[in-house]
Amino acid sequence: MLEKINQTVSFLREKGIDKPFAGIVLGTGLGGLVSQIKNKIEINYSEIPNFPVSTVEGHAGKLIYGDFGTKKVVAMQGRFHFYEGYPMEAIAFPVRIMKFLGVQYLFLSNAAGGVNPDYEIGDIMFITDHINLLPNPLIGPNDNRIGPRFPDMSCPYDPGLINKAEAIANEHSFRTHRGVYLAISGPTFETPAEYRHIRIIGADAVGMSTAPEVIVARHIGLICFAVSIISDLGVEGKIEYITHKMVQEAAAESESKMTAIMTRLIEKI
Ligand code: HPA
Repeated sequence: MLEKINQTVSFLREKGIDKPFAGIVLGTGLGGLVSQIKNKIEINYSEIPNFPVSTVEGHAGKLIYGDFGTKKVVAMQGRFHFYEGYPMEAIAFPVRIMKFLGVQYLFLSNAAGGVNPDYEIGDIMFITDHINLLPNPLIGPNDNRIGPRFPDMSCPYDPGLINKAEAIANEHSFRTHRGVYLAISGPTFETPAEYRHIRIIGADAVGMSTAPEVIVARHIGLICFAVSIISDLGVEGKIEYITHKMVQEAAAESESKMTAIMTRLIEKI
């Protein structure tokens, strides 16, 4: 594992990726933040040794490095989902690469279905905690040089970053919440009974990503911040027919809010 990581990191350093401060993983319909990165180096996943190759609708994923405000960042345009058929190891690998490139912070975004009855489409939810119903990406032999066998998860999302993000959002009068994100495999969206179940067991929103990446990031010691854009509602009486396109469009509509928060937040750290 460490050998593969070192090989990939050497390749990326040779391409000019030098000590990024933060890593960014962008969710469905939320890729526009990348246009704010200046002096870019873009590398297709297919060129990167040991990297999984993105399959979603034939779009080649890209790693993008450059200046985001005053800081160097490395962003993943296109993430890996379990429902695409990747092993959990493939979902873990890019997060580990970010850490070995020098990243200290990991920022993640996703589109999610709101199950909290107070939520509306377009709202922003700062993730304070998660329930991971996907396979745990740390199952298998553990390399103690990467992280401990039994990592702590008492505080996976940094409270200081959430406070800062909330203050930024308040300045803009964005509708925000703090909530629990539940990660599930998909690719089906939930039935009404499943949405009810997800609410009853303690979640505010549901999606198909993020929690496994955060588990890997905490294992390796990265500080995490994650935000969901509420793209649809899994609330009794408000459940409607949905498609992936509708999720993409709803997320894209609120993208500028998320980008504004992330930009200021990364600047302020
Ligand atoms: N369920 C699961 N994943 C999702 C949803 C949803 O309602 N919306 C966006 N991603």
